[in-house]
Amino acid sequence: MKQPLTASPSARLSGRIRVPGDKSISHRALILGALATGTTRIAGLLEAEDIEATANAVAALGAGLERSNGVVTVRGQGVGGLRPPSSPLDFGNSGTGTRLMLGIVAGHDMQVEFTGDASLSRRPMGRVLAPLVAMGLQTDADTDHATLPLVVRGTGDLLPIVYDLPVPSAQVKSAILLAGLHAPGRTTVVEPLMARDHTERMLDFFGAEVVREDRGEGARAVTICGDAELRGASITVPGDPSSAAFMIAAALIVPRSDIVIEGVLLNPTRSGFIETVLEMGANIEILDRRDDGGEPVGDLRVRASALKAVRVPRDRAPTMIDEYPILACLAAFAEGETAMAGLAELKVKESDRLAATEAGLSACGVSVRVEGDDLFVEGKGEVRGGCRVAARMDHRIAMTFLTLGLGARSPVSVDDVSMIRTSFPDFVPLMSKLGANFASC
Ligand code: S3P
Repeated sequence: MKQPLTASPSARLSGRIRVPGDKSISHRALILGALATGTTRIAGLLEAEDIEATANAVAALGAGLERSNGVVTVRGQGVGGLRPPSSPLDFGNSGTGTRLMLGIVAGHDMQVEFTGDASLSRRPMGRVLAPLVAMGLQTDADTDHATLPLVVRGTGDLLPIVYDLPVPSAQVKSAILLAGLHAPGRTTVVEPLMARDHTERMLDFFGAEVVREDRGEGARAVTICGDAELRGASITVPGDPSSAAFMIAAALIVPRSDIVIEGVLLNPTRSGFIETVLEMGANIEILDRRDDGGEPVGDLRVRASALKAVRVPRDRAPTMIDEYPILACLAAFAEGETAMAGLAELKVKESDRLAATEAGLSACGVSVRVEGDDLFVEGKGEVRGGCRVAARMDHRIAMTFLTLGLGARSPVSVDDVSMIRTSFPDFVPLMSKLGANFASC
């Protein structure tokens, strides 16, 4: 059942909030916890459907999971020690959960069926199957065009590989590194541009040997030494910068706003959005920089700001890939034309986000165009709004246009906000606590 919601122009946003735990780190903490020996304690794990799907999957594969006083405890089975599940693993809407777990299953002698919702079942799995099949994973699917549902058979005799990623993807990189844990010798992934590095950091943290090598012009080789042993660890998951991006954007466009977001992950492979909005003239102060469980963290004070257009270079895309829809909305509130280059990967997310962003902005009265893989937004300092936007089963598209509606001249309705539960179930209550004006419609 569709759940529409309307965002209306809001008075000043103010207050202190904490966004939920980072989604990427939450997936990895559960998965590495399941592969470790001993116990892993995770504080601040994201409570959202995508993470529940991964938790259910590791439990179905034999890891013990308990939740008490906000801490999730994982009893790991050791690398290669998982057991076959008794039914298909259902990953709901989660591409990350699916692709990372394909890497794990590859290293176990078991047959597993992967399923997902309508959005996930349209997303390409060939990018991750190709390297995993080269390592020894078996499937009857046509590797080039594979989508869920998918049946795969892993092996206890995986081979190490050296793999040049054809696309900068942290999910594919991670799937290969996780499979490489189970192979003898060294498995190397060469990435054309550095994508988020939480898997490597967490593998280090759990005691595996990871070697990084700069290959010039942004490229990097990451090697995992196989037949590794992981030791259970204690992890605190920092606040998700991709969720914080909506709060940052709302505070920038709603006049006279002044908010603080506590404990946001500041890993450089995730901070392209903050870097870009600072270039646009955003008034953001980073307070109390610190380190939490191997990741840099800080509090962000964000105040309403006059923004100017910028050119966002293509090599920044991996560091802010999930933030382009909300950045494009900010660009509409800026003065001048913002150009965002190299956005091909946006077409294969939970929806075609390039098309969804273009359509939503057009409906809101913004002059926007797509040329190839580049997006151009003509900023006029204000946005008309007064429209209904289709969320296309995509949590970030829903949150993007609800955020835009808070700063537009007229309300913006989103046709279905139910998918927000996949990554940020508290989005509406937290925004409302800051003063955002939402109403069911
Ligand atoms: C993610 C990587 C990104 C991102 C996704 C989470 C991850 O996808 O869009 O939301 O946790 O590794 P790609 O690696 O496919 O670009």
